[in-house]
Amino acid sequence: METLTVELGSRSYPIYIGAGLLHDGDLIKRHVAGSQVAVITNETVAPLYLDALRQALAGLAVDVHVLPDGEQHKNLDRYGRIMDFLIEHRHNRTTTLVALGGGVVGDMCGFAAATFQRGVDFIQIPTTLLAQVDSSVGGKTAVNHASGKNLIGAFYQPRCVLADTAVLASLGAREYCAGLAEVLKYGVIADEGFFGWVARESSALLARDPGALTHAVRRSCEIKADVVAEDEREVGLRAILNFGHTFGHAIESLTHYTRLLHGEAVAMGMVMAADLSMRMGWLSAAQAQQIKVAVASLDLPVCPPELGVDDMLDAMGMDKKVVDGTLRLVLPRDIGSVMVTSDFAPSRLRETLAAGGALCDG
Ligand code: NAD
Ligand code: GLY
Repeated sequence: METLTVELGSRSYPIYIGAGLLHDGDLIKRHVAGSQVAVITNETVAPLYLDALRQALAGLAVDVHVLPDGEQHKNLDRYGRIMDFLIEHRHNRTTTLVALGGGVVGDMCGFAAATFQRGVDFIQIPTTLLAQVDSSVGGKTAVNHASGKNLIGAFYQPRCVLADTAVLASLGAREYCAGLAEVLKYGVIADEGFFGWVARESSALLARDPGALTHAVRRSCEIKADVVAEDEREVGLRAILNFGHTFGHAIESLTHYTRLLHGEAVAMGMVMAADLSMRMGWLSAAQAQQIKVAVASLDLPVCPPELGVDDMLDAMGMDKKVVDGTLRLVLPRDIGSVMVTSDFAPSRLRETLAAGGALCDG
């Protein structure tokens, strides 16, 4: 087992990474202060892993709330039903909520924990690769509103994150690869050596080799933990975690969140961001090509569908990272280093969008 710490003073917490951790009752129970636990999971994950978690929690009073599967259920209605469930089952301020699932379950359970009785403990047990390397770490919790994603939420840190890499075996191939997009992202934004490792080990990663997987999750979490420790509330640095996301969100929005997984759109977004950096002269053509080749090596799409430059610009203008009407993008200036900037030529951005990233040609 590997252990990392998210350093946030009195709210610091460990991230445990390893195969089989879901069965380690002593480890999980170390982070449960009272005798009551409420597990929040979903209808897909529960049949796979709930029994193991129940066994691990033996000796505690455990209630389980099973959500329907899907992003469309990450809303205030379902959040309200979690509150009803906690109140009906007489949970109090010493209860611990446990999120067993992907990012949807984790975000909802976290927001429920942040708000139930003004805040109770919660534990993240992420079961998708995306959740293990991204959403379970850093304390962003939320539900969606009809007007947009994650509009209602709180920064609220868990007591611990338990990333059992063995549970990734049951993840569908597309979901798994979508998580690899976020893994590659960490290399581009912060660690050239890790970027090279991901590109070299793409076959092992696609084969879900346990050693490769543990390293990928550990290094990703380490980079995210460092960023979060420095800028918990995204006043500055944390925005770099959104590399590829402004383009990606626009693609997701214009395809109505139906055609592409988030990680797939981010993969295209990273290629487009590299393309724009190249056009601005901040990244060499060879580096931009390296990013594209690495994305493709992880079985991820590199070329966006035809969406229209003006529609893309409109959709990007809707992004949360627009400050005072100025579009800011996270753009690579090297592999392993990015900047958050609005200092790019709009004409170059239009070229990137028109070409779908000219990099798509070859
Ligand atoms: P998800 O939670 O919808 O999970 C994807 C699918 O995999 C679901 O159908 C789920 O039931 C299934 N699944 C989960 N674990 C499985 C397993 N081990 N085996 C088989 N199937 C399994 O999606 P996600 O990609 O994990 O997370 C996306 C969500 O995360 C979005 O709501 C997004 O807004 C949020 N997010 C939050 C943050 C953050 O910092 N809080 C960061 C990134 C994304
Ligand atoms: N997923 C981006 C963040 O946690 O800030």
